[in-house]
Amino acid sequence: MSANNWDSSLYDDRHSFVWRAGAGLIELLNPEPGERILDLGCGTGHLTAQIAQSGASVLGLDSSTSMIAQARQNFPGLKFALSDARDFRFDEPFDAVFSNAVLHWVHDAGSAVRCVAAALRPGGRFVLEMGVKGNVRRLRTAIEDVLTEAGHQPKCPWFYPSAAEYATILEEHGFEVRMAQTFDRWSKLEHPERGLREWLEMFAGPYFEGIAREDHERMLRMIEERVRPELNRDGVWWVDYRRLRVEAVKLA
Ligand code: BEZ
Repeated sequence: MSANNWDSSLYDDRHSFVWRAGAGLIELLNPEPGERILDLGCGTGHLTAQIAQSGASVLGLDSSTSMIAQARQNFPGLKFALSDARDFRFDEPFDAVFSNAVLHWVHDAGSAVRCVAAALRPGGRFVLEMGVKGNVRRLRTAIEDVLTEAGHQPKCPWFYPSAAEYATILEEHGFEVRMAQTFDRWSKLEHPERGLREWLEMFAGPYFEGIAREDHERMLRMIEERVRPELNRDGVWWVDYRRLRVEAVKLA
């Protein structure tokens, strides 16, 4: 799996907690009827649709063709477009940019924040949630240890800055940070036996690119056994998510 080659059915079937947990972020966005809002990294479109219920005019943007196809199928009345978070531009400015559980895939945060700033009107708001420093620490340690012990050099596909690091990037691109909050959100996985395996297949694929399927399988089993004491409670899998929530405003 590359970050641009998502299994959108697995995402909607088993990982709906990602967008369900993001619903509280819409309260922070507080969309108003008639506002123009960009949903950056809209995935399968569920939060785009919730924003649209406010009467705002929303455009969902994602870099994955399968996510955009699924979003169009889920919500045929809404607008979706394919674009890279590091390289997009619009002629007509937005009142707000919203982003849930996407920016931890974007290592080049400066380019993404530059595009967001250019897409907003002065005074426009940027409301985001992403993994923060220490996100999925137990899982990440096990993945990287198992890969290293097998002679690989693990390359983390995720970008988990601290609140201060991300606030600095926002300020460098003309934002004032009104709120930045870091918090734990342990998340329960849907399938009792296969939950962790499905999470690893959905989100950790880039770690295993180029590795033979049987070696990959063996490593997945080792990872499961290493994290089981901490991440499996009474037969149910949990992931140790930590989130960063930010509200920033583009200065005039
Ligand atoms: C997250 O939402 O925190 C996350 C998503 C994919 C991989 C790792 C973490």
